[in-house]
Amino acid sequence: MKLVLCVGGSIAAYKACDLASKLVQAGHHVDVVMTEAAERFVRPLAFAALTHQPVFTQGQWFEGAGSGRGPADHLRVSEEADLLVVAPCTANLLGKFAHGIADEIVSTTFLGATAPVLVAPAMNHRMWAAPRVQANVETLRGDGVHFVGPEAGYLAEGDRGPGRLTEPEGIVAAIERLADGSD
Ligand SMILES: Cc1cc2nc3c(=O)[nH]c(=O)nc-3n(C[C@H](O)[C@H](O)[C@H](O)COP(=O)(O)O)c2cc1C
Repeated sequence: MKLVLCVGGSIAAYKACDLASKLVQAGHHVDVVMTEAAERFVRPLAFAALTHQPVFTQGQWFEGAGSGRGPADHLRVSEEADLLVVAPCTANLLGKFAHGIADEIVSTTFLGATAPVLVAPAMNHRMWAAPRVQANVETLRGDGVHFVGPEAGYLAEGDRGPGRLTEPEGIVAAIERLADGSD
């Protein structure tokens, strides 16, 4: 499958490297699109090395000269994709997705996607429980967006509760269920 992996600015972004590697090892083509906040946690080089593809970043989007890519190439990959996976998805991205805000490369890629979308949220348990976040999730479910997780468990700040990114194996399994139509 052709997959677009969108990575948000969560501490769980490091797990997206393992996810990208597992997807490549399973034979998928993976294009990674990162928010600027995600780049604070993981460098694009890690994803480029794991996917064997150049990574779409905010800087490259605006300063495309010399990158070999056109300004609308992120829309082309999301148009050609079989599935868009957002992992980890921040509270911020959920809000943008639910309200059609497209002010940077990941939210713009989401808005332009014609393929099914699988979202794997990751955030603090109080953020996940916030009525506004839950309303955004319901809006997106109503739009046909698929979700995997979050799981309950240890959170990076030391708390425990629902908000933990589903482990890469679980996200791969969710992708396979969507691909074979069993979800
Ligand atoms: C150490 C650290 C960890 C963070 N982890 C999360 C997280 O897991 N989930 C989340 O929604 N926001 C998290 N944030 C806040 C986001 O990085 C922030 O809202 C950012 O604007 C999100 O940008 P993006 O949605 O464009 O990636 C974290 C911030 C810091 C400093």
